[in-house]
Amino acid sequence: MTEQQKVYPVRDEIAANAWADREKYQAMYQQSVDDPEGFWAEQAKRLDWAKAPTKIKHTEFDAENVDIRWFEDGELNASVNCLDRHLETRGDQPAIIWEGDDPNQSKTLTYRELHAQTCQLANALKELGVGKGDVVTLYMPMIPEAAMAMLACARIGAIHSVVFGGFSPDALAQRVVDAQSKLVITADESVRGGKHVPLKDNVDAALTRTGTDVVDHVLVVKRTGGDIDWNDGRDVWYHEVAEKQSTDCAAETMNAEDPLFILYTSGSTGAPKGLKHTTGGYLLHASMTHQYVFDYHDGEVYWCSADVGWVTGHSYIVYGPLANGATTLMFEGVPSYPSHGRLGEIIDKHNVSILYTSPTAIRALMAHGDNVMQSSKRDSLRLLGSVGEPINPEAWEWFHRVIGNSRCPIVDTWWQTETGGIMIAPLPGATDLKPGSATLPFFGVMPALVDNEGNILEGATDGNLVILDSWPGQARSIWNNHERFVQTYFSTYKGMYFTGDGCRRDEDGYYWITGRVDDVINVSGHRMGTAEIESSLVAHQAVAEAAVVGYPHDIKGQGIYIYVTLGDEYEPSDELKKELVQWVRKDIGPIASPDVIQWAPSLPKTRSGKIMRRILRKIAANECEGLGDTSTLADPSVVEDLISNRANR
Ligand code: WTA
Repeated sequence: MTEQQKVYPVRDEIAANAWADREKYQAMYQQSVDDPEGFWAEQAKRLDWAKAPTKIKHTEFDAENVDIRWFEDGELNASVNCLDRHLETRGDQPAIIWEGDDPNQSKTLTYRELHAQTCQLANALKELGVGKGDVVTLYMPMIPEAAMAMLACARIGAIHSVVFGGFSPDALAQRVVDAQSKLVITADESVRGGKHVPLKDNVDAALTRTGTDVVDHVLVVKRTGGDIDWNDGRDVWYHEVAEKQSTDCAAETMNAEDPLFILYTSGSTGAPKGLKHTTGGYLLHASMTHQYVFDYHDGEVYWCSADVGWVTGHSYIVYGPLANGATTLMFEGVPSYPSHGRLGEIIDKHNVSILYTSPTAIRALMAHGDNVMQSSKRDSLRLLGSVGEPINPEAWEWFHRVIGNSRCPIVDTWWQTETGGIMIAPLPGATDLKPGSATLPFFGVMPALVDNEGNILEGATDGNLVILDSWPGQARSIWNNHERFVQTYFSTYKGMYFTGDGCRRDEDGYYWITGRVDDVINVSGHRMGTAEIESSLVAHQAVAEAAVVGYPHDIKGQGIYIYVTLGDEYEPSDELKKELVQWVRKDIGPIASPDVIQWAPSLPKTRSGKIMRRILRKIAANECEGLGDTSTLADPSVVEDLISNRANR
């Protein structure tokens, strides 16, 4: 684990100009946990309130009575905070830079333009009968209208529920019904990697499953002009209804605890949960983390490569950056189209200072070798960020060296749909970096590690990651199912929010997320993070990607089963298998010695790029009947291949 001990100290030129240096971080963090009321009352001033809050924190984590309220007597509007308040000072500054799937298509919207068009849409929504408290489902491409739709909902007090455009009609229908959504906003088609995806057809199919009494209207953005069916009376062209509206729309005054959005996320059991986020606390957390974690400075171009369909897109493409008056880049396509150099080319084209992306994206590029970045210089980059899964030190180093020209700090940010915003991450001017560690908690975040009985563990140790007290961006409930919220997050360990993640804390107090706790395997009584073994494997030059699961083993309880995807230029062989076994034994120790290796041309992933370990565990366990719900897989044929080629053991 030599890689993991490497430290990258704070760079002087970053610290000199950063929002927080070491001392400031420590002082602010201390105050935030010693005196949360005072701290957050002060921080809340970064937002524009119609009525400033006097009640700051009212939070109860007791499983009998989980009740989370922040700024409960405050009133504000999220779209006013993201748009109106910037008009005077930065009306002509770019708010959104849009880069199309086709490298020849891009456009810029200033704050003034975004404000005007959002108001028009807000007026259009009202004309279609949408009002305060109604739920609007968004099923959209990565186009500026997606951000406008979110902000237009916020403006009139409607609650948006964004469903990722890669989800199937069934998945969409399920979410529309659960949220009882009156209106769906979509586009004729989306465009990704040169391919058209029939969003409107999918909505049509979804709405045949929901019955006709749920959704009144479907608002359709004309993105490609492709052929679509039209349901008169129900379907409405976005441009026809929006363009004729006034560019002013008075914003609805919302209570801080009024819902801003619902976002569905899958759990290990049952139907997807609609996490409910509210207005004041969420916006404060998103905006504050965006400023401090990305050390955002006025005028910089900031690019988060996530999709607005995920929480990362909500908090760090739309709400955080726009609340801060930033310029946020929105990319419609994929980093591999038209070539693997695209990511770097976009950075050069738009002078991007800050890039926030995922380990999966980094590893996908890394598999093609250093040359993939040759078509760009990336001299504008100042800072890099990573999110969504543990980043293995090898990918971290590659990100740092190849994409960041060995010059840019990397902020590895740990958080969840449930947390609303970043929870554990370095601040670039304050925190020395260790590749693979999300480092230290953000202001107001009180992480702890507990054993399986819920006892709090001190010092350098492994444990289950819990959060001891509330923070403003926390989800307040599961839509229409508070009981499930309590059950899922507050019943495992009394009085604590349980993250579902396993974690290690080192002697410097740095947090290293090891992966979901349900992915932890127990071999001969030794607990190991699958992420740790994977990290070791992908450090081997032949390995592009690896997934590790436990499987029932007669003697050890669980054995270690490994799926390996090789880099382009490597061939499977028994030799290579032996080499990999030795590699892991040497890196972690004999207890981590892999028992079975299966060559996997690719791994089953959700459309958001997360490896579906549940399926890999079943295949490894030889339980190929009843693989459960595979509807969220990006490519179901991957599973068939793995089943027919599964290894002997
Ligand atoms: C994982 C995404 C390690 C973790 C924002 C968490 C991470 C789940 C990191 C939430 C990170 C996210 N290092 N693991 N930097 N970031 N995760 O809800 O297991 O899509 O519980 O939110 O992703 O995923 P979600």
